[in-house]
Amino acid sequence: MTACIVGWSHGKFGKLDGETSESLVVKAATEAIAHAGIEPKDVDVIYVGNMNGGFVRQEFHSSLALQAHPDLRFKPSTRVENACATGSAAIHMGLNTLAAGKARFVLVVGVEKMTELNSTQAGEVLIKASYVAEEANIEAGFAGIFGKITSAYFQRYGDKSDALARIAVKAHKNGSKNPYAHFQKEFAYEFCRTPSDKNPFVAGPLKRTDCSPVTDGAAAVVLADVQTALGLKHAIAFRATEHVNDFLPMSKRDIIKFEGPQLAWKRALASAKLDLLDLSFVESHDCFTSAELIEYEAMGLTAPGEGERAILEGWVERDGKLPVNVSGGLKAKGHPVGATGVSMHVMSAMQLSGSAPAGMQLPQAKIGGVFNMGGAAVANYVSILEPLR
Ligand code: COA
Repeated sequence: MTACIVGWSHGKFGKLDGETSESLVVKAATEAIAHAGIEPKDVDVIYVGNMNGGFVRQEFHSSLALQAHPDLRFKPSTRVENACATGSAAIHMGLNTLAAGKARFVLVVGVEKMTELNSTQAGEVLIKASYVAEEANIEAGFAGIFGKITSAYFQRYGDKSDALARIAVKAHKNGSKNPYAHFQKEFAYEFCRTPSDKNPFVAGPLKRTDCSPVTDGAAAVVLADVQTALGLKHAIAFRATEHVNDFLPMSKRDIIKFEGPQLAWKRALASAKLDLLDLSFVESHDCFTSAELIEYEAMGLTAPGEGERAILEGWVERDGKLPVNVSGGLKAKGHPVGATGVSMHVMSAMQLSGSAPAGMQLPQAKIGGVFNMGGAAVANYVSILEPLR
């Protein structure tokens, strides 16, 4: 155990007209510093997670965090990017800075303002997180990448559309209890299962209800070393963290095996000296319902090809043996890419401190797992979190 989350903040995710990435960063930073019970002058180092790539014209984001308070002027701040795992990448930079003894308090803000573009334009930005030389001409933007992965999975293991629809239903049911979520309404199984005008095919077997939405939002955490955290009000410790990158081209991998996520989970659980089922919950990267299905296998919940059991037999429901995405996940909470990894850590910190919104709070939240993924199982981050005391 090397470091803790000692403060956090999470704005409402959604289509946030009138907000800019600057206003989102400023609000998230201000609230996280206040929640930590420290002063802006106490922050030593800042990381801003932002993928961008053309979502907004402003690319250079690091000093936007300094707008939160005059005392942040002259603090070292860096923008971090690692596709959809940008938020976790920024947190890892913060943890490394603490481990190097270069800071007592690190502020990490994750932000993305995506909805200035329509879905097609957003897809064109997101496809840059594929191996452009081979994959960028796929139809439907980044959804096309997961359409291809889902088709390959169905070819090997059979059509799993029932399981995918159940994952979507679970996400929206959980999201309906999360006031921070982009979508806060339940979706019926028949609606998610059946293609329709309101739920058309987007890419391969994936329908609209299988996709995370295009979302604006920000979240922030303050990190501190354990010794410092002991004197503060909130302290959620990192029991383990792992980061595994795999080859970028899908052609160099058996893409439905998710070997990078598998290795990240294996190493994190070994380092934490835990079995998967010791965790009270997992926040997992369901950018598409099929990603969550394959992640059940990668985390070791089921054997390869049997991921559907986890959802069809209720294991991953909020009252199941391993609740997955009680926040609604990316599917319902939304996926503002640079903010997502930070959001997952904030949702987990809320659960572990017993301060999650009513209806979302689990009765027994002792140890939580976070899995955040950039690209198609390329940049893989696992955190295992527990209260320090
Ligand atoms: N799930 C459920 N409903 C959705 C939705 C989603 N992902 N996205 C949009 N909707 C709803 C909207 O709320 C709207 O509802 P309304 O008619 O009741 O107001 C309706 O569908 C149409 O919205 P629109 O934005 O026009 O849909 P779209 O077809 O242009 O976009 C997707 C839908 C799925 C194509 C788009 O959200 C997308 O590209 N998602 C993937 C993003 C991505 O790749 N992220 C990175 C992953 S790693």
